[in-house]
Amino acid sequence: MLVLNDIYKSFPKADGNPIQVLRGLDLTVETGEFVTVLGNNGAGKSTLFNIIGGALWPNRGKITLNDRDITFLPEHKRSHFIGRVFQNPQMGTAPNLTVAENLALAYGRQNRKLFNRAITKDLRRIFAEKLSEAGMGLEDKLDNRMNELSGGQSQVVALIMSTLRPPQLLLLDEHTAALDPQIAKDVLDFTCRLAERDKLTVIMITHNLQDAIDIGDRLIMLDKGKIAHIFAAEEKKALVPDDLRKLYHIP
Ligand SMILES: Nc1ncnc2c1ncn2[C@@H]1O[C@H](COP(=O)(O)OP(=O)(O)OP(=O)(O)O)[C@@H](O)[C@H]1O
Ligand SMILES: [Mg+2]
Repeated sequence: MLVLNDIYKSFPKADGNPIQVLRGLDLTVETGEFVTVLGNNGAGKSTLFNIIGGALWPNRGKITLNDRDITFLPEHKRSHFIGRVFQNPQMGTAPNLTVAENLALAYGRQNRKLFNRAITKDLRRIFAEKLSEAGMGLEDKLDNRMNELSGGQSQVVALIMSTLRPPQLLLLDEHTAALDPQIAKDVLDFTCRLAERDKLTVIMITHNLQDAIDIGDRLIMLDKGKIAHIFAAEEKKALVPDDLRKLYHIP
């Protein structure tokens, strides 16, 4: 279970007045739960992920994951048990390394071992199996460099890298927003299959109102650095995008 308690985060500004981005944010995500997050540009969604993932530390408040206080745990240590996939398909993977090498890097990180360039046949077989589950023919691209893949293929590799060993928490920051609609749908379907099979705990930021309604167990609306509303499962099912547009002045 992830618990965020009274989280504040501000950034210094040139004029001396800090910009308050997160303002007393409280959130609990149960183990195995899939939560979607909506919010206007600048609402603080990515900052929230930076705080949970350890790229930033809060000015105030506490974060626990499965009863461990991780508020000030360095990001590289959190990366052993928190997975993150970004909007930009180039983020989080090494562009000049092959698909197999990238997966081996992730595998080594999650196993707390040093990266071993000699990728065994067994590992290649495991990687190929995982890649084939996405149904994009990626199992034939183990020896292609990441920068030869399409955006959707890159996101699938990034997702597999984050979940080779199921993480305690998976953070998805608009990870399909840069993709063509059909590819975005395929990557989202794959995401849901992974989450369901491995009973992952997932927080997914999206700007797609319909996806936020259709996917996951609860929907969170972030506004001005606080949670403006949490739609529980039943309430969420009854929503249509226009309800959200009207309530939160979403363009
Ligand atoms: N490292 C930083 N230094 C200074 N200001 C920052 C930093 N990171 C974020 N901000 C500011 O914090 C506010 C919230 O940014 P954040 O990226 O969290 O928004 P968001 O909800 O993810 O928006 P979007 O939907 O556009 O991705 C913005 O005003 C942004 O400029
Ligand atoms: Mg963002």
